[in-house]
Amino acid sequence: MLNYSGESRVNIAASVEFIHNATLLHDDVLDESKARHGVATANKIWGNKSSILVGDLLLTLAFRWLIECGNLSVLSILSKASNLLVKGEIKQMTTRFDPNTIRKNYFNIIGEKTASLFSACSEAASVVSGATSDETERLRNFGFNFGMAFQIIDDVLDYTANQGTLGKQLGKDFFEGKVTLPSIIAYEKGSPSEQKFWEKSFSSARHNFDQALQYINHHNAIHVSMEEAKHYINMAQSNIDTFSDSLYKTALIDFLNASIERQG
Ligand code: FPP
Ligand code: MG
Repeated sequence: MLNYSGESRVNIAASVEFIHNATLLHDDVLDESKARHGVATANKIWGNKSSILVGDLLLTLAFRWLIECGNLSVLSILSKASNLLVKGEIKQMTTRFDPNTIRKNYFNIIGEKTASLFSACSEAASVVSGATSDETERLRNFGFNFGMAFQIIDDVLDYTANQGTLGKQLGKDFFEGKVTLPSIIAYEKGSPSEQKFWEKSFSSARHNFDQALQYINHHNAIHVSMEEAKHYINMAQSNIDTFSDSLYKTALIDFLNASIERQG
């Protein structure tokens, strides 16, 4: 979309892909996940030690390729994003349930653990292409808004998807006590006894998924979460409005729309 065809685009794309895969190898260890994209996770097949080490290997390769680009700004953008990703995961792991900060914490965590990498991809592409600072800001925001929508939809699918199309364990966030948007909405709209149910679910091993789904459906929490995701998608689309029409811009808009439709 930015008319750049230098070799660095291959390095950057491959680096981002490897950073992303490193985070997922580590994430599946942290979450003790057994399936991803319909196949057994690396930790399930080869164990935690191998998954951590191979994740580290991918990360080191990603940074070697970025250094080959000889562009300090690009290196800075992707190293900052990697730092934020880890911070987001640490916050997710250590933040205790608090009704007063539940929403703020959720958006902050998904901003760091997911939207930061989407944002860095777009920003790095913009910088390496020699775009203006205004274009770079628009693209950074495009990536951020897209990433926020992507994670909200991911969190919705954890409650709604069909096990086969999701390709990972359904209800995993709930069983892990992970606080995500559908449960936050059901909590906020819930009666005092429903709120007690959620508080117990987030802090103990008492997990009744059917009951959780019933509260979520009763308060229309899936629809409200998807509206929030669509709000971010609309902002992302408006971030790229000013770029000239091209095959590539259309592809980006298609990505945005496909992320709303995806079932897994
Ligand atoms: C998936 O979230 C995980 C992430 C978006 C980020 C994970 C980041 C780390 C584990 C830090 C390690 C970082 C580096 C740079 C190696 P999810 O668990 O909500 O989604 P899922 O359902 O697909 O697992
Ligand atoms: Mg996970």
